[in-house]
Amino acid sequence: MLIRKPADIPSSEITPPQVWRARRTFIQGAALGVGAAALAPLGAVAATYPRPGEDEPLTPREFVTGYNNFYEFGTDKGDPAAHAHRLRTRPWSVVVDGECARPGEIGIEDILSGFDQQERIYRLRCVEAWAMVIPWLGFPLGELLARFEPTSRARYVAFETLFDPEQMPGQRRRVLDWPYREGLRIDEAMHPLTLLATGLYGETLPNQNGAPLRLVVPWKYGFKSIKSIVRIRFTAEQPPATWNRMQPDEYGFYANVNPAVDHPRWSQKSHRMIGGGWLAKRRETLPFNGYAEEVAGLYAGMDLRRFY
Ligand code: MTE
Repeated sequence: MLIRKPADIPSSEITPPQVWRARRTFIQGAALGVGAAALAPLGAVAATYPRPGEDEPLTPREFVTGYNNFYEFGTDKGDPAAHAHRLRTRPWSVVVDGECARPGEIGIEDILSGFDQQERIYRLRCVEAWAMVIPWLGFPLGELLARFEPTSRARYVAFETLFDPEQMPGQRRRVLDWPYREGLRIDEAMHPLTLLATGLYGETLPNQNGAPLRLVVPWKYGFKSIKSIVRIRFTAEQPPATWNRMQPDEYGFYANVNPAVDHPRWSQKSHRMIGGGWLAKRRETLPFNGYAEEVAGLYAGMDLRRFY
C-alpha cells in the first residue's frame, strides 16, 4: 500500500469514517476472494479482524493523534503531540538479536518495502479505562521475527524504545526507568493478530503514536504497545517490562484485557470511548478485548488472576 505523509494529503481526500468502513469491508471481501490459498495462514484473521470495532465508529483522528501516552515527551496526554516532532525517525533501524540463528539489524526502509502493509481496525484499550478504535497500518510482528530464525531457547521477546534525552526530553527526568521496555511470550509475539504498526488512517505513523514502528497487541492493555522500537531480543527468561517493574501490583506482565480483574485504582469492567465526551455511555469490556476466540487458547490452564 502506498503510504503518504499527512502533509501530502489534501483535506478533500480525508475519508469520513462511514465511507472508510464501507471501503474496508469491500477490500476485505476482495482480499478473501483473491489468493485465498496464498493467504492461508492469515485467512482466519482476515475473516474476523473488523469485529471489535464493527458496532462503533472509528475514533476521530484528532483524538488518536492528540491524546497520547508517550512519557518520553511528557506525562500529560497533550505532551506527545506538542513535543514529538523533535524525534528524528530517519535514518532508523532495529537490532534483532538474542536467541536466534541470524541476529542482525534491519533498516526502516527495508521493513516498509519488505513487508506487506495491511490495514487493520483494532481497538486500543488503556488501563485507565478509556479506549479508541483505530485503523492501523502494519504487518504481523511474527513475519519479521521469523526472518531472524529464533531458536528453541527463545521463549520470550523483549522490546526497547530509543533512548536519546536530546530528542526525547521526558527522558531527562526519571519518571520511568528508561529506556521504555516491554516483553511478550514468543507465542503471543508470533500470533497473527500481533501487529507492528507503521501507520494509521492510511498515513505514516505520527511521531506521537510511536513512529516509525510500534507494537499493537489488540487483546492487551495499551501499555504493552511499546513505541519507537529500536531493539528486539529473543530471550529464554521473561524480560523486564517498564510498568511491570515500576508498579508490579498495578501492571502485570501479561496485561490481557480482563474485566474480571480490576486495576487497584480502576474497575476494568467497562470503559468509555475517547471522543464520545464525558457523558457518553460506558461500554462493557469484553475478555481479551473481544478477541477471546482467537487468543484465549494461548492461556489455557493459566490462572489469569495470578498472571494478570
Ligand atoms: N511506549 C513508550 N515508549 N513510552 C510510553 O510512555 N505508553 C504506553 C504505550 N506505549 C508508552 C508507550 C501506553 S500507557 C499506552 S496507553 C499506549 O502507548 C498509548 O498509545 P497511543 O498514544 O498511540 O494511543
